[in-house]
Amino acid sequence: MEKGRDKGQKNGLEMQKIGVIASCYKDKFGTPRQPGLAPSSWARLQIDREWQPELALAGLEGFSHLWLIFQFHQNTDLRYHAKVHPPRLGGQSMGVFATRSPHRPNPIGLSLVKIEAIEKDSILLSGVDVIDGTPVLDIKPYLPEVEAIPQARSGWSKGLSPSTLRVKWTDEHLKKVQEWSQSLGHQGLKSLIEETLCLDPRPVVYRGYEGEESPYRQSHAVRLFNGDIHFSFCEDQSIEIHRILIGSEMP
Ligand SMILES: C[S@@+](CC[C@H](N)C(=O)[O-])C[C@H]1O[C@@H](n2cnc3c(N)ncnc32)[C@H](O)[C@@H]1O
Repeated sequence: MEKGRDKGQKNGLEMQKIGVIASCYKDKFGTPRQPGLAPSSWARLQIDREWQPELALAGLEGFSHLWLIFQFHQNTDLRYHAKVHPPRLGGQSMGVFATRSPHRPNPIGLSLVKIEAIEKDSILLSGVDVIDGTPVLDIKPYLPEVEAIPQARSGWSKGLSPSTLRVKWTDEHLKKVQEWSQSLGHQGLKSLIEETLCLDPRPVVYRGYEGEESPYRQSHAVRLFNGDIHFSFCEDQSIEIHRILIGSEMP
């Protein structure tokens, strides 16, 4: 088997990962549907040794953002659907190539993320929409001079309203998040929880039952770092946190 530099570039479509993501998001559920929606989210891309990161990353420190090209390695529905149902469209379908769906002929994702720091062979990122363990196929610096297009049209995604949800905190949960934040060394944990829950991670079918006795009016859980946050949506657009389980408290 060829290793490192000898693997080089080939004409075929065979690809190799350049590294793996460690992310604050452990599951697909709760992970933002696009980058930048939860600015306090965190990930570390560890570049594999064989690509000589100490050389390959030289010069990247001058950029603020990069394109992350990755594999949707946790896709479960592997059938091809030419039409998909973007969650933001509440049940309406769209051609797969008009969407950012993970379910496409080649399960490749593209996210514009912020570079927080470069530490030897790894890159600290924020504003991510990828889960822990995601294999990365390539990274490329974002070039605002040529890639930012303020007058660009945004098709069916135009005008979709921003979230009006808010998290209701109890003193007990605030204290727990503060201690958890200190143990992780991650200052933005409270913001991360608020940003993540207010994006409403529920599938469309679970929405709109807030005031009713319904099997859909249930508690949900999002896994962040080494903890689970259990919460539910209330009629008044608030989000109630029921429990926060950290480390050994988790099931
Ligand atoms: C809609 S996709 C958009 C990803 C990327 N920004 C794009 O446009 O290609 C984002 C969703 O993919 C899912 N996801 C993230 N990482 C994944 C992975 N490694 N495997 C499968 N699904 C993943 C999460 O549910 C996340 O909310």
